[in-house]
Amino acid sequence: MKICCIGAGYVGGPTMAMIAKQCPEIEVHVVDLNRERIAAWNSDSLPIYEPGLAQVVEEALGRNLKFTTDVDAAIMKADMIFIAVNTPTKTFGVGAGRAANLEFVEKCARRIAEVAQGHKIVVEKSTLPVRTAEAVKRILSAANVDNGATFDVLSNPEFLAEGTAIDDLLNPDRVLIGGESEAAIKALADVYAKWVPRKQILTTNLWSSELSKLTANAFLAQRVSSINAISALCEATEADVDEVARAIGMDSRIGPKFLNASVGFGGSCFQKDILNLVYLCEHFGLREVAAYWEQVVLMNDFQKRRFAERICRTMFSTVSDKKIGIWGFAFKKDTNDTRESAAIYVCRDLLRERARLSIYDPQVPEAKIRADLIASMGNLSGTVSDIDRKLVETNVTVVRDGYEAAKDAHAIAVLTEWDEFKEYDFKKIIGTMKAPAFLFDGRNVLDRTMLNKLGFETFGIGKS
Ligand code: NAD
Ligand code: UDX
Repeated sequence: MKICCIGAGYVGGPTMAMIAKQCPEIEVHVVDLNRERIAAWNSDSLPIYEPGLAQVVEEALGRNLKFTTDVDAAIMKADMIFIAVNTPTKTFGVGAGRAANLEFVEKCARRIAEVAQGHKIVVEKSTLPVRTAEAVKRILSAANVDNGATFDVLSNPEFLAEGTAIDDLLNPDRVLIGGESEAAIKALADVYAKWVPRKQILTTNLWSSELSKLTANAFLAQRVSSINAISALCEATEADVDEVARAIGMDSRIGPKFLNASVGFGGSCFQKDILNLVYLCEHFGLREVAAYWEQVVLMNDFQKRRFAERICRTMFSTVSDKKIGIWGFAFKKDTNDTRESAAIYVCRDLLRERARLSIYDPQVPEAKIRADLIASMGNLSGTVSDIDRKLVETNVTVVRDGYEAAKDAHAIAVLTEWDEFKEYDFKKIIGTMKAPAFLFDGRNVLDRTMLNKLGFETFGIGKS
């Protein structure tokens, strides 16, 4: 058996590395058009920071795992082809700001149709709107009259979360396979069965599988927005959101997971997939359903905005020319990914108030932070004014540790829950800050009782 995966990103890379590790008899080729990314996968410094990933890649690379830019050769050789390319929210034309941009998926299908020979199983690994497989099937069958290739299409959405990808891949709650051909479903199920118990390999029809992925992300994000909505009420009423979350989470029908109030959810999936769901509902004339799910995203926007406003209000209603140390820029801990990170929007709002930001993140490079902040200043068509560009240049410094970020600062804002922040020497830190030393914990990870004793003025999410 030979596998090809198109797309060597946060999903394609780790997922295929895990298949190659667990199935040494399967040859796995991961291909991408991005030469830099492929070169990084073949180097000592992987393009993705993910705990445990380097060891998994190291074990299989050169044995049965290969990263290459030779897309056609890998397609030709493979029995099974995964499509794991990006499906971002459209930024132009019909459905802009909501619908998924399926350009890259369609290009993959067309490339496969162009070069494939014999029988291939094509697996949708990307997150896609329900009924995309219909289009994929049509492209494959229409374009391939000449070379007589035949295809089965499966949907096999990925449920890994960044920061815990290796553990999620090793011990998935379930593997979902949607399809029409029993033989194709079995072939893919057999791959996962090398390490996933059969009872956790779920099979459905194509459309249920595609829709389950969007639904899972919508439900998860909805929990975060629900607890964040309650956090606002907690701040107004002296209830404590962590106590409320604990109290409701002990109800076995609700459960304790995904109830951490925060500065807002980020990541490349939640917002994109809900907006896609909203677009689909509108397309099918289900306006109330669309409005229901859209509220999850609107609540998240409110939460991010609210946090920046609280900082300004607390600091005597002006942060202009004040230094604020920003701890964490990634959308969650243990990843270098910043896509849709709440930090981007909080920093943008603070910059618009003319604050000076000193940003530290253990994994996100300076160039990425600057590029994200400049992009966040853009208008709907992405144009950034010279004034805004200048603002990022002059008012942002990116530093090498949290201590440097806090030095001479009026405030610290914790925007990612990196473990190292809990270990810092706060006595030393307050000694280097301006008084009063404000600390805004957007992740509720620091010990506020201890910090208050040291003299900090602290604020948490959903806490008075
Ligand atoms: P990504 O942007 O990290 O990687 C996608 C890769 O595909 C890029 O390297 C890009 O160069 C490559 N690519 C695009 N078009 C190509 C083409 N025609 N030929 C070859 N390569 C091409 O994206 P990702 O985060 O890995 O997400 C991929 C898909 O998986 C998305 O649909 C996403 O919604 C879904 N997903 C992501 C996560 C996650 O945690 N990131 C989790 C589950 C599902
Ligand atoms: C998510 C889904 O969890 C995963 O199944 C899917 O495959 C991809 O999308 P990911 O975005 O990588 O994974 O991370 P996740 O752990 O879900 O966190 C998403 C965002 O929600 C992060 O910004 C995180 O900080 C935030 N979050 C999560 C909270 O604010 N509170 C919580 O209780 C949980």
